[in-house]
Amino acid sequence: MAIIAMNEKEKEVDENIPLQAPCEELGIPFGCKNGLCRTCEIIVEEGMENLSAVTEQEKVHELPEQNRLACQCSLTSGKIKVKSTWD
Ligand code: FES
Repeated sequence: MAIIAMNEKEKEVDENIPLQAPCEELGIPFGCKNGLCRTCEIIVEEGMENLSAVTEQEKVHELPEQNRLACQCSLTSGKIKVKSTWD
């Protein structure tokens, strides 16, 4: 099991699961779901090391070091704590 935490809520997920579905359930907004629009950009407050490698689509955006696109990464194991860049 792995855990995604956001705004005092936690969601248990399987390891190596794409972040998209659980993050949508926690309230992260999504747009293109293809790495283009940055709507799903999250700030990873804890557990960056538990996420899959940065994708080519993410590199194009030159995101701040703490940020990822939730439509592009998976939680490999452990726990992450995130918040939306829209908060
Ligand atoms: S939903 Fe558009 S970049 Fe993730």
